Formats: sequence, structure tokens, C-alpha cells
Amino acid sequence: LGYFTYDPGYSTSGSCQSDITYIDGDQGVLLYRGYPIEQLAEHASFLEVARLLIHGDLPNKNELEAFDQAITHHTMVNESLRIFFNGFHYNAHPMAMLTGVVGSLSAFYHDTIDITDPENRLLSAHRIIAKMPTIAGAAFKHMVGEPFVHPLNRLSYTGNLLNMLFARPSEDYEINPVAERALDQLLILHADHEQNASTSTVRLAGSTGTNPFAAISSGCAALWGPAHGGANEAVLRMLSEIGTVEAVPKYIEKAKDKNDPFRLMGFGHRVYKNYDPRATIIRKTCHEVLDELGVGNDPQLELAIRLEEIALADDYFVERKLYPNVDFYSGIIYRALGIPKEFFTVLFAIGRTPGWIAQWMEMLSDPEQRIGRPRQLYTGAARRDYVPLHRRG
Ligand code: CMC
Repeated sequence: LGYFTYDPGYSTSGSCQSDITYIDGDQGVLLYRGYPIEQLAEHASFLEVARLLIHGDLPNKNELEAFDQAITHHTMVNESLRIFFNGFHYNAHPMAMLTGVVGSLSAFYHDTIDITDPENRLLSAHRIIAKMPTIAGAAFKHMVGEPFVHPLNRLSYTGNLLNMLFARPSEDYEINPVAERALDQLLILHADHEQNASTSTVRLAGSTGTNPFAAISSGCAALWGPAHGGANEAVLRMLSEIGTVEAVPKYIEKAKDKNDPFRLMGFGHRVYKNYDPRATIIRKTCHEVLDELGVGNDPQLELAIRLEEIALADDYFVERKLYPNVDFYSGIIYRALGIPKEFFTVLFAIGRTPGWIAQWMEMLSDPEQRIGRPRQLYTGAARRDYVPLHRRG
């Protein structure tokens, strides 16, 4: 091919150098800035992880408080931005609303357009991390037909998110600490995953120097697809379709049949060929949450466990190293928290936002940064002459 390599899906192309996230797919290792995901998921808060991803080191107490305040300061969205939601049909998919409304933030913040200034980049980072839950909460309320709930800054980041989803004007809403911790942990597990499709999209869009909110909106669009962040929603659709434990073997056969488009959603990963360390953590949390919330005998969980057992004992999945990924169990936790499946990918997007932002900031400060511009292998017609319409057969 002369001066470039043909690499569909970029599975063997490194697009950048990065200090942020390390993955060893064979060993099932995931590190954020050197820290194992297992330790962060157990001990850290989501905002602590967000600051770690953006600044590179774990914050001390003062630094974390300052970061927390910087985020809290920006949780409100302009009232006119809320009007956008009225334009969406009542059954609009929340990812469509999120992608559109996050992109529209670019119309509100012209001061951040000068992204050559690192202070402006940081301000954009604070704004977007702060406003994602507020926009998500508004999309949720639009979806369920209830009045919007404003952010309450005395709550934690995740407590505030839960409050904006579930508080109603006529009722008291008390945040369940188990739900709050489980959701915070899920956000941590989703916070970064090096050059996945949505992050690469943010980097590619950002490499043109576009507005940061527009770049993050493009990340939301890429995340939505069922092969990426949309897989958590697809897992629950699949479990509903399978229906009963007895039907599992039939669906396993369908997944193996190359003439059948059906795939086991929540199985397989481009990089992890041993196991997904995030899935191991989530599986444990899933059982804890279901026990705590008193839904331990959820039939869909039973179905998921049986599906996993049968698949992991089947040569097809073993030979191809197809294991449950992060999305296999996350949907079951979300469901136990009372969140409809259409909304799952929005939660993934909130979690991934610090990663997108950290990668965007790293890219802009990289002296080797150039506009992203892959090449192609042209397979179309050779040069030919235009034929006037009246002479075409
Ligand atoms: N069910 C059945 N067969 C599968 C599956 C599956 N879920 N995943 C891969 N395979 C087969 C595939 O048919 C191929 O078989 P063969 O070698 O005989 O042609 C082989 O395994 C390799 O698969 P691939 O499609 O070349 O792998 P990929 O790296 O291009 O795709 C993937 C990775 C995640 C898109 C894919 O495994 C998949 O579609 N999984 C289901 C969707 C899913 O759970 N996505 C969430 C990914 S994790 C969260 C995130 O990071 O977004």
C-alpha cells in the first residue's frame, strides 16, 4: 500500500501517546493513571477519579475539596437550555436528547472557544462534568413526563444525580446510600477506557480545534451504538427476548450461527481476551445491590447468570475468548435502581465524561498533535467520462 497501512477498525494502529489509562487485555488489567481499577472502585469517589484522570495524580484533601467546589459551582444550566427539551417528542430516546443538548452547550459558552488557553480548557472540563447529570436528569424527567428537578448542591455528585432522576415535587425522596454508592462505583468503572470508539471520536473531533462541548457531543453519539455503550440497553432487551432459563441454549446456538445476526450482547471485547476486570467488580456489586434492595430473586439476574455459565462452558466462546464485559451486569444494577433500560447509556456517558475530557486535554497539549485524518483504500470505479443524461441507457 506504499505509504500507509490498511487497518479496518484500527485494531493494530496506535493513534496517540497517552499517560491516562493502561489496559493489558490478556491479563485483564485496567489502570487509571497507574492505579488499579479494583482499588479505585473500592475506595475512591467518582469525583476523586475524575480529578485523577484530568490532573494525573490523586488529589489531597484540599485539592479534592477545591475540585468538588469547582464542579458544584457549575451544576446549573441556563434556563433557556431547558426550553430545548420542549422540542423533543415525548418518546425521544434520552441519548438523542443528551447528544443534542450537550452539543447545544457550545452555543452558550463562547469564552471557552479559545482552547489554546489551558485555563479555558479546565473551565470547560468543570462545566461539562458538572452539567452532564443536570442534562441527564432533565432528559429523564422529559422521558417520564415529570417536572424537572434543579440540582441540589448540598448533595454528592451521584446523590444529586439520583435526586434529579427520582425526586418529585409532591413526595419526599430519600437517597438510598447503597444505591448512591453502587451508582458512584459504576461511574468510576466507566470513567475511561483509553482509545475506545467514543474517546477516539472525541479526539478526532477535538483535533480540528472544535468547541469542547461539540466534541463531547460527538462522543455521546459514538457511545450510543449497541456495539459500544448501547450494549447495556441491548443486554436487557436480549434477556427479555430470551425470556426463560429453558430458552438459553437456543439463543446460545443462535449466537454461534454465522448466518444469524444475533450476538450475545454484553459478551466479547476488542481488547480484553481473558476477562474484563470491570465485569468482575460489577458482578459482585450486582449481588450486593440486589440483596440490599430486596430484589435478590430478580428472574433476569438468574437468566443472566445461567447465560454466562452456559456460554463460558461452550467451545465457541472459549476459543474466541469471549467473556462478559462491563455492560453485561451494569444493566441489571440500573434496573434494580429503578432506571429504565433506554436510560442506561446516558449513565455510561456521565461516567465516561471525565475520560473524554482528560483525553481531549491531553491531546491539545501534545506537541505532536495534528488533525486526525485516516487514509483509505479506494475500491471504486477507475476514471471515466461524464455521459449526458439523454445518452445513458
Ligand atoms: N456473540 C457471538 N459471537 C461473537 C460475539 C458475541 N457477543 N462477539 C464476538 N463474536 C465472535 C465473532 O463473530 C467472531 O467470530 P469469528 O472469528 O468466527 O468470525 C469473533 O468472535 C471475533 O469477534 P469480532 O467481531 O471480530 O471482535 P471485535 O473486536 O471486532 O468486536 C465487540 C468486539 C465488543 C464489538 C463484539 O464482541 C460484540 O459485538 N459484542 C457484543 C456487543 C457488546 O457487548 N459491546 C460492549 C463492549 S464493552 C463496553 C464498551 O467498551 O463499549
